[in-house]
This record gives sequence, structure tokens and C-alpha cells, in this order.
Amino acid sequence: MTLPDFVQRDAPLTALNTFGLPAQAALFAVIETPAQLATLIALPEWSEWPRLILGGGSNLILTGDVAGLTLQVRILGRELIAEDSDAWQVRAGAGENWHGFVQWTLECGWPGLENLALIPGTVGAAPVQNIGAYGLEVAERFDRLEAMNLATGEMLTFDRAACRFGYRDSVFKHEAAQRYLITAVIFRLPKRWQPLTDYAEVVRELAARRIVHPTAQDMADVIIAVRSRKLPDPTQIGNAGSFFKNPVIAAAAFVRLAARYPDLPYYPQPDGTIKLAAGWLIEYCGWKGKSLGPVGVYERQALVLVNRGQARGADVLRLAQAIRESVRAEFGVDLELEPIVA
Ligand code: EPU
Repeated sequence: MTLPDFVQRDAPLTALNTFGLPAQAALFAVIETPAQLATLIALPEWSEWPRLILGGGSNLILTGDVAGLTLQVRILGRELIAEDSDAWQVRAGAGENWHGFVQWTLECGWPGLENLALIPGTVGAAPVQNIGAYGLEVAERFDRLEAMNLATGEMLTFDRAACRFGYRDSVFKHEAAQRYLITAVIFRLPKRWQPLTDYAEVVRELAARRIVHPTAQDMADVIIAVRSRKLPDPTQIGNAGSFFKNPVIAAAAFVRLAARYPDLPYYPQPDGTIKLAAGWLIEYCGWKGKSLGPVGVYERQALVLVNRGQARGADVLRLAQAIRESVRAEFGVDLELEPIVA
């Protein structure tokens, strides 16, 4: 089989996933332009290869070597493409680093993404799991995205409805997974901007800095400080951010739990369900700071699992399973994994 020169065989993926899990891709290509994708799609073997699409590898648990073709998206570029009385429309290549993009929008004077500062990963991965933090989800600033259908090579646009955003969720985690490759994302950044300051820790940090009327840049600085205190830097300690979603339960089930656990944090949802704090449930079960083999529960945020050295995907899943069983036994609540397992 003759491969294009940008396709490598047996490529190590350890440095390309932030948990630092060892794995090899049978075939690996860095995609810098949609034209490279078109070249691959034209290959006779293309339709037989299983595919894995990588962005920053920050929301991924690799459980072993990856068969077929792994594509790392590094399509760059960022520009203002339109402006109306309500918003700036900004387009970014899927391979742009998310935090770098957020900082650039703020430098340009376009607010709106500051609460999502310092989230690891790429622009193209942001809508896949609808990244969110400190009272904001990317869906709220999203206009549309451009993607290539990997079966046909056709370029298409997904608007907000087509993405079917949910809490840490979108169509790209379900039926569209690995079938489309996101090449660019277009955001709508509001001209009538208000800081989102409903999060207690953010309010405390603003007060400590004696900031009464924060600018978008002040908000970003505060968010960066709060995040850095609680979440491990993936360049220092391997991790994939929150390992579980915060579980959402029915109101009746919540009433029973709240009677037994008066300190249980809870967040009522617009549809009447109640979101619980998985980190609190895990800490209550005694896991915070504990390890099982080479994988640990981060000592400052129990929702984050960390690589204590030489961990493999199976070690990560073993600890995740032990935590799920404890939480189910204590609270009767099922925790769902947040990262993509491949
Ligand atoms: N808590 C504990 N012990 C812990 C961790 C949390 O008791 O070890 C309690 C906290 O005291 C608080 C509540 O749980 O009452 C919520 O904790 P926190 O504010 O730290 O947020 P989270 O619900 O644990 C979510 C997101 C984070 C995001 C933060 C801030 C998910 C799965 N995680 O965490 O997102 O940064 O809120 O908005 O929704 C990510 O998705 O990777 C991520 C880091």
C-alpha cells in the first residue's frame, strides 16, 4: 500500500493525549488543510480504516493501540468574518489552541469567551463536548461549524440545532462521532456584554482583587486564577479534566437524598431535575487524594483523575469503576464518564 508522505506508520500517541497514556496509532496523519483530507478519502483503503480524530487529546482515554488511521487536526486560522449591531462573528480553524484563541478574542476587544479561559484542548473539540465552566457553555457563544463528511468528502455546515448540544454533550459524541471532521467553528461574541459572576469562587476572587466592575480581561484573569488553584495543569500531571459528568436526577430522588445528606450540593435545572456535584459524592466516599495503582484522585478536586506515573488506560478504567461502584452503593447514583474512551 502506498501512502501519502504525510501518513506515518506505528506512531506513538503518548505525548498526544493529556493523560499521557501509552498507545500507538497503526497509521497517523497530521491534518493541516482540508485538501489533505480529500487526498486520504480518495485512497482505496480509506473506507476500510477505523478512524480516530484527535484535537488536543485532553478529553480522551486511550485503552490500547489504535487500529486504522488516527487524524490529528491542526487546521489553523482565526478571523473576524462579520459584524452586526448585536455581535462579532469570529471564525477559527479547528486546530487552534482553545485558550490561545480565547486570549486573542479578548485582545481584539471581543468579549464573551472569558469564563472558558484556560480550558485545555482545541477549538474544534470545544463543541464536541460543549465545554463549560463558571456558568457558561460554549453552545451559548456558538453560531455554526464547518465539517467534512468523511464518507464523501463533502463540506457541510452544522448550526446550533444540528449540533444538539447538551450538558458536556453534542451529536459529535453520538451518531456523528468519527463520521465528520470539524474544520472550523464560528462564534457569535456579544456586543452588549455582561460579566457572568454567579459562581461563588469567582465572586470571592473578584472581591479579593477589589474589582467591582470587571472587564472581560479581568474575568479571564480571575477564572485563570481559580482554575489554576483547583485543577491540575496537564503539562505537569497527566489528566483529562473532569472524569465524570455531574449526575442529573429526578426531583423525588433528590428529596430522599437531601434528607439523608443535608450538606449535599445541588443545582436545580430548568426542566425540574436536579444536578448533583459528582466531586462532592466522590469525596464523601473517601476517594479524594487516594490512588489505585498508578492512577489517583486529585487531592484538590475529586472529579479529576490523575496519572501518578506510567498509568495505562486499563488502570484508569479500573479506578473509575471502583469510584462508580462506591458512589452507586452510597447514594444510588450512577456516574457517567465524561471523556471519550477509545
Ligand atoms: N466538591 C467537593 N469536593 C471535591 C470537588 C467538588 O465537595 O473534591 C463540591 C464543591 O465544594 C462544590 C461542588 O462540588 O460545592 C462543585 O464543585 P466545583 O465548583 O469544583 O465544580 P464541578 O461541578 O466539580 C464543574 C465542571 C468543570 C468546571 C467547574 C467550574 C463538570 C463535569 N465539571 O466541576 O469542568 O471547570 O464546574 O464551572 O461539569 C471539565 O469539564 O473538564 C471541567 C473541569
